[in-house]
Parts: sequence; C-alpha cells; structure tokens
Amino acid sequence: MPLPIQAFFVPLLFLFFFFSSIATAAIVEHVFQVKNVVVKPLCKEQMIPTVNGSLPGPTINVREGDTLVVHVINNSTYNITIHWHGVFQLKSSWMDGANMISQCPIQPRNNFTYRFDITGQEGTLLWHAHVVNLRATLHGALIIRPRSGRPYPFPKPYKEVPLVFEQWWDTDIELLNSRPAPISDAYLINGLAGDSYPCSKNSNAHSLRMFKLRVVQGKTYLLRIINAALNTHLFFKIASHNVTVVSVDAVYTTPYVSDVMILTPGQTVDALLTADQPNGMYYMEISPYTSANSLVPVPPSTPIRGLIVYEDAKSTASPSNSLMPSGMNAISTAHRFSSNITSLVGGPYWTPVPDHVDEKMFVTMGLGLKPCPPGTKCIGPFGQRYAGSLNNRTFVIPGTISLQEAYFYNISGVYTDDFPDQPPMKFDYANFGTSVKTLKYNSTVEMVVQNTGIITSESHPMHLHGFNFYVLGYGFGNYDPIRDADKLNLVNPQMHNTVGVPPGGWVVLRFKANNPGAWMFHCHMDAHLPYGIIMVFIVQNGPTPETSMQPPPSNLPQCTRDPTIYESLATSVDLSS
Ligand code: C2O
Repeated sequence: MPLPIQAFFVPLLFLFFFFSSIATAAIVEHVFQVKNVVVKPLCKEQMIPTVNGSLPGPTINVREGDTLVVHVINNSTYNITIHWHGVFQLKSSWMDGANMISQCPIQPRNNFTYRFDITGQEGTLLWHAHVVNLRATLHGALIIRPRSGRPYPFPKPYKEVPLVFEQWWDTDIELLNSRPAPISDAYLINGLAGDSYPCSKNSNAHSLRMFKLRVVQGKTYLLRIINAALNTHLFFKIASHNVTVVSVDAVYTTPYVSDVMILTPGQTVDALLTADQPNGMYYMEISPYTSANSLVPVPPSTPIRGLIVYEDAKSTASPSNSLMPSGMNAISTAHRFSSNITSLVGGPYWTPVPDHVDEKMFVTMGLGLKPCPPGTKCIGPFGQRYAGSLNNRTFVIPGTISLQEAYFYNISGVYTDDFPDQPPMKFDYANFGTSVKTLKYNSTVEMVVQNTGIITSESHPMHLHGFNFYVLGYGFGNYDPIRDADKLNLVNPQMHNTVGVPPGGWVVLRFKANNPGAWMFHCHMDAHLPYGIIMVFIVQNGPTPETSMQPPPSNLPQCTRDPTIYESLATSVDLSS
C-alpha cells in the first residue's frame, strides 16, 4: 500500500524545523596535509614538517556551536597527532589528539579525520602536534567566535589580528632528533623573525621581514595572541600603548588594562588595542621570561620585534622602543599580570565556582635528578640526568596501545590506578610508572600544585586536557592550608586550561569532572614531557548514555607492534653525550 503524502511531509516538516533551529551551527571542514617543506626565516634554508606548507599553520575559524572536521593526511616522515588545545571535547575524548593517551599516532602515509563539536566556549585557542618536538612547527590558531547574532561582551573591534609567537631553531636535524630540543636560535611573530636578526636587518623599514600591523588612527583592534613556543614563557609589550585584556585561554575576563603581558607556552590572551597615539611606527616586542636559576641556559637576548604602523606614518620615522622586564622585575611583573586577571562574572558561559569539593589533592611538581645509568655519561648537573615528577611519580607514556583504549576495553597492564592524592612522606628518586587518578563523573576536584624545584625552580605551565579550571590563587613559597586557604578567590577567579605555577610557589585549581574519558594533566614545556611531568585523570561514565563515553571511531589509528616508532619513554631519556 502506498504511503499517504503526509507520511513524507510530516517528517520533512519536522526536519525543516529541526535544522532551522540549529541553523546557526555549521560544519567547518579543513584538510591538513602534513608535509616537509623548505622555509627560511633566518639566513639558512631549513626543511621542516608543516601543515599545508605554512608556518604558522592555517588558522581555523569557527563559531561556538559548530562542528569542526579536520582530515589529517600524514605525508611527513613522522608519527603525528593533532591536539585541539583547550577545546573541551565534550563527549568526544577520542578526538583529543594526545599521543598514546587518547589515540595511537597517525603513521606516515596514513590519514585520520578529527570530528568534534565546539560548544560552551569562545575566544582564541590553538591546535598543535602532540608528539615531542613536532609542535615546534606544527601549530596554528583556532578562533572561536560567538554564534551569529551574538555580540562579544566588549565593543566590537574594527579588525581582528592573530599573533602567533613561535620558537625557531636554525638546525632542523638537531631539533627533531634531540629530546628535549636544544636552546633555540630565535623567536618568530607570525613566522617572521623581525629586524634584529641577521638576514632581516639592513633594509628599509617597510620591506623588513618582520610582522607589521597597519592601523588606522582611533580604531580598535582585537589581538588574538598565542604563545606557541615549545619551552619559553614570553612577555609581550607594545611601545607607548596599553592594551585591554578581555579573554584568556578562551574565557572572558573582566577588562584589564596593562602595558605588558606574559603568556606561558600554550596560553592565549585576547586584548583590545586602540590606535590612540600620534601617527608613527611603534615596536611590538616579545621577550623570553627566564624564571629558572642559572642551571638552565638562557636563550639569546636579541629583541624579537614586530611593528605597528599607523596609516599616515612617514616611512623615515624611527620606531619607538619599549623596555622589557628582566631579572627580579620579570618575576614580579609576571606575577602581577597573571594573578590580577579575573573572570567576567555574568558573561557568556560563566558558571560560579562549585563550593563543594569531592576530591582534594596536593600535588608536588618539579624537575629533579636521577643517577646516570651505569656505563653511560650524562650531561645534566652533577653528571646526572633530569627526571620530572608529580607526587614523586615520573610518568611513562604507554608504548603499545593508548591509555584511553586500555581503559575503554579494560586491558590490564597498561597503567595503574594509583596516582596519590598527596606526595609520599619520604622523597626518594622518582618512581617511574603510568599512574592515573580515577574520578567519578561530575565530581569536583581541588588541586594544590606545589612547585618544589628540587634542582631548579622555574615556572611550570601546567595544562589540563578536556576542562578549564578555576585558578583560585597563586603564591610563592610553600602553600599553607590555613593562611593561604583563607585568601582564595571563590567569587570571580580566572579560568584557564594552562597555568604557570610560580617559581618556588603554588597554585590552587578547581574543576568539575563532567566529561568522561582519559585526560592528561602535564607541563606544557615540551622539554618536560619526556621528563615525565605528566599524570592522567580518568573520568568515569555518568549515569546515562548521554553522559558516557562513545566507542572509538572505527578508523582510530592502530599502534603497530614496533615500540621504537613511539615517543621516547621517560626511562629512555638521557642527555648522554
Ligand atoms: Cu597543548 Cu597536552 O597540550
């Protein structure tokens, strides 16, 4: 019997209303072709792995609510994953791109498609390779704008300008083969080294190979700033101009006026810049923040500059200079900027701090020394080698299957569910292992992260996958649960996915574990990944299918049986000469 016409019409009508109600959500699709190309930011040509041949890689533009689909085609000679740094990945933990944690890597001549929704967050984030050293050149901006028709919670800027800060090595072979990467030769702003490096200088200011932002007098620009450096915190300053910070790590902030800012590796800042100075040219400058003591070599001090050029500026005008913080002043400037930011209470996506805490953790973090294995020579301090740890555990990255698959399929022997809530009473050389902490769905975790710095005390940028955390407080010295707990900000604390734990100091973080899956918490200094400053939270399923992990996509990359193709394990890291 033929169906009456209504049988078609009614579902169609339903579909029409269904789609019109989500009409603002789009599917944004990209192809990421990972391939080696030759670039020349300084004097030498270098072969580097890139996405689509560009450095930085392509900018992704989406609106909140969109679905992002990225087809990664690996035509490079490396194992690759791409991580969407700061994206919540709500119910899509298989798409997190954390090598050997959420997936095995995409091997050369293989493809994988990342597909996930971007919901409940707006601002600037970044994507990057999540395999040691490769994010040096495989990274780019990920910009999330409000759904159409929804305004920013600040005056609409005249233009928006991504600023990607990068670290550069003039020796590709050295970079990719040594773990961690050696001291870099330069920094770049949007792929350009600026006028103080060889092969960039001695030319007229308008033809310099430096990043130039042309501005119109009186207009306001939204700078979307990303620190994509592997291992360096960076100060950023514009001569003679203040900026107004409106968002950090894609969370809106109370507008905060400053003449300088600091970003740890992996952090982002959105700031409004108004061209309110006399016509002319002004330097913008980045400068590495070295909070560590002298055991860690200091990067070159050459200024890294770009230029703000007013529309009517005479080409002969000399750009006015700015003064970057240094020494103790650098530590206090960094602390002032970081700790003064507060969230925009009542702004889009703001949720009050949960006041009930289910899991309290005290996590000591630091870089220590381990004896050199017998018969080898180590070049670390005192002839030893570095080992990082959290609560005295040095994380070993799984070698045969991803941690999340081991969890999902209940495969034993890949990790142990024993990450301690407190450091052990007696400190010894770090324990090596793949240690995770299991959390109940929707539980609230509070973590005091204490920077111990057994051999060197430096700021470590701790990054959590899958969640933003509230930063309830920052301080120096040892955290005091009575004195310091009283001063925590529970009203309008800043939120981050990456926070710099002050040198010899602490932070207090809180987050709600509302997303099932396996999520890394690690130092975002790429050099500290192989040292094992990593732990993993496993968030269990909630009570409904809606709050439970989906099975992995059928084409999730498989690990081969050859363990040598994976990242170095912490135990195999050595600085032997
Ligand atoms: Cu931006 Cu685990 O990384």
